Amino acid sequence: MSLRKRTGKVGVVGTGMVGTSFAYALMQRSLASELVLIDIDRARAEGEAMDLNHGLPFVRPMRIYAGDYADLADADLIVIAAGANQRPGETRLDLLGRNAAIFRDMIPAILAANHDGIIVVATNPVDILTTIAAQIAGSDANRVIGSGTILDTARFRYLLGQHYGVDPRSVHAYIVGEHGDSELALWSLANIAGVRLVDFVGANGQGYDQAALDAILEQTRNAAYEIIKRKRATYYAIGLGLLAIAEAVLRDQHTVMTVSSLMTGQYGVTDIAISLPTIVGRDGAEEVLNLPLSDHEVALFQRSANLLKEYLAQVS
Ligand code: 2OP
Repeated sequence: MSLRKRTGKVGVVGTGMVGTSFAYALMQRSLASELVLIDIDRARAEGEAMDLNHGLPFVRPMRIYAGDYADLADADLIVIAAGANQRPGETRLDLLGRNAAIFRDMIPAILAANHDGIIVVATNPVDILTTIAAQIAGSDANRVIGSGTILDTARFRYLLGQHYGVDPRSVHAYIVGEHGDSELALWSLANIAGVRLVDFVGANGQGYDQAALDAILEQTRNAAYEIIKRKRATYYAIGLGLLAIAEAVLRDQHTVMTVSSLMTGQYGVTDIAISLPTIVGRDGAEEVLNLPLSDHEVALFQRSANLLKEYLAQVS
């Protein structure tokens, strides 16, 4: 059992659209007693805290305020959403140089303020920034997790649910690897009600259709580009995904989620943070599951990890 003390306090570093979408979702779930918002633009964090506070009479009491790193001292969970975001047409990896520099300043300051909270990285490119944060944390690397492919997995389940006419929560399917262009679907394990996708027929009469499944994976992979083209950024779904991670940690749920964490030999991969189905609880990414992937899936996963390592080398 974890000896981590519980304060019910959550910190958000970076109060842009992702950080505040998470904050807005968090205050509605009655999950935290205290929320500190930190931003390099202090006035922005103050304005967000004021706006959220004025919503408290409609939900349940908690304390929400703008603060600085010192206020993170006793936080159970810190969500990092600070940094630049994608411009239209830009890949997540294009952001790398800009955000790696920000992380090299910010992570040591956060670690100096907080000694045992779980740190959830949401800034892109999330796998590389999670790796940088975990490397800086050193022996505390297990405290650092990335939002990874939780959103891709959610998009994939939503689209599969639409296709088969079932609740996405009844679809058990994972997107793993890089949160980005080299991600892959674990088709060999995908199922609805324990029935493999190739054998499943939905109540709507939809059965196996390879072209439709290929299109669903393509749509999953391109979702962020399509949204950014239309509204410049994505934030509601990732805000809810971060809430799901926060809930798994704060309630010690041991939920299986495709978060990103530093690999220690999984499928031959080490020294890079990347997503695989992982048990998430009070101690963060508690166990990366060892699943019977197909040889093809293992090869795609290794290729994705190697690609991330090449990008990491560019900023090391
Ligand atoms: C997303 O996938 C841009 O990473 C962000 O929505």
